Amino acid sequence: MTNTTHPLATRKTELIWEGKYDTDGNRRPVDITAATLPLQHIEQVDQPRSEAFATGTLELFEKANKRQDDFCNRLIWGDNKVVMASLLSEFRGKVNLIYADPPFNIGADFTMDVPIGDAKAKVPKDASALETVAYCDIWGKGTDSYLHFMFERLTLMRDLLADDGSIYLHCDPTMSHYLKLLMDEIFGENRFRNEIIWGYKSTSQAQKWFPRKHDVILFYTKSDNWTFNTDDIRVPFATKSLAAHGSGGAWKSGTESERAAIHAKGKVVEDWWEIPMLNSMAKERLGYPTQKPKALLERIIKASSNEGNIVFDPFCGSGTTGAVAEQLGRKWIMSDLGRFGIHTTRKRMIDIQRERHHAEKPYRAFGVYNAGKYERQWWQQEHLQGAEREHRRVVLELFGAEVLPPENQPSPYLHGFKDGAYCYIAPIDTLFGKADAEELVSKTTYHLTGDGGGKSEVLLSRLGI
Ligand SMILES: C[S@@+](CC[C@H](N)C(=O)[O-])C[C@H]1O[C@@H](n2cnc3c(N)ncnc32)[C@H](O)[C@@H]1O
Repeated sequence: MTNTTHPLATRKTELIWEGKYDTDGNRRPVDITAATLPLQHIEQVDQPRSEAFATGTLELFEKANKRQDDFCNRLIWGDNKVVMASLLSEFRGKVNLIYADPPFNIGADFTMDVPIGDAKAKVPKDASALETVAYCDIWGKGTDSYLHFMFERLTLMRDLLADDGSIYLHCDPTMSHYLKLLMDEIFGENRFRNEIIWGYKSTSQAQKWFPRKHDVILFYTKSDNWTFNTDDIRVPFATKSLAAHGSGGAWKSGTESERAAIHAKGKVVEDWWEIPMLNSMAKERLGYPTQKPKALLERIIKASSNEGNIVFDPFCGSGTTGAVAEQLGRKWIMSDLGRFGIHTTRKRMIDIQRERHHAEKPYRAFGVYNAGKYERQWWQQEHLQGAEREHRRVVLELFGAEVLPPENQPSPYLHGFKDGAYCYIAPIDTLFGKADAEELVSKTTYHLTGDGGGKSEVLLSRLGI
């Protein structure tokens, strides 16, 4: 007998948002089919090495340098859904720690004042087209779209996380209750470790309620076996003298010298953290409005990762996570959708490479990557729906070419056929140049098995290259 119970009828307590279930009541999977292409490498950054090359001292540099080349860190520009989907082939189950600090403030995500020159002058930066679409994707339907946005990304984060890995999700009190339910659903209620309250002081005053001076950080682990370095995150006891501890707990047992040793070691910090917010005079401030203090990331990275581990920040902003990870000998991967975030982070990481090189401390090179091109294809698929297919049909028919249905296409890039040759129709909003033609040929060759090289030449000659 078939079970006719509607799936929603059997649900237990859960958070529902528009888009979670399809119209038949089935759970919608996270759709990453259009987003699994490799990321494009834009540049390799090893600033000390480049400077040595420029000054003719490369040989000396190679002998003396402390660069670690067991891993090349990555800074990736693009929507992190696309970025994470692309990272999965190499990093599924390999990331040891994730710190995610997503946007919360409706309307303030992508518009900001950008310092120029000596930073005395500022120009307002408007959101780019991509950022505007991303903004609608996050907030277009209010909390529903926000939750769907986060659900998809948190699911991908879980897949990237190592079995003994941890995730810290930075929330503000307007969203933390929803996000905790999402985290319970994705990671499991029993993987919840802490709700950390980050308390800070700032000058803003509330008139009719208590001043809001804290953020919430949700700490979950992927399994029941995880890294937690208690000795690396101890803080001094509030009481200076041993005698002031009273007679409870650990202070009751052991000798005087054992108790003194405990006192000197300090205590493991509780789940409420008093760490100052960056003020306008702070040395580490980079002009990025949502920049977090390094002290906050230091605590998280020291507690939940070891040297040589991979730390990932999908919403990196000004790159605080990578800056601290590099200084603590961790490998890092960071991504951000905003051009200004990538620019700020790139510059910050170059300064750290230089500083560490001069101090004869180890550092790693990093690659800058772009997910934007594929991202555009993904937006098209999501937002233009059938328009792209229709556009191809019209162009092919105009030129009297045969329109190949997907099942007859030898490669997804070959859309039609005319006079013994396959035809490719470039997307609606692009200019097709030589570099695109070359890339198309190599992608198509890759898809066509057998005579790869030969077909590649034929295609190039047909394209007039
Ligand atoms: C709260 S800020 C992060 C600040 C960061 N923790 C720091 O210390 O500078 C959130 C960041 O998420 C980025 N962002 C928003 N949506 C994104 C997306 N879909 N993919 C990648 N980054 C995104 C924004 O550009 C912004 O820089």
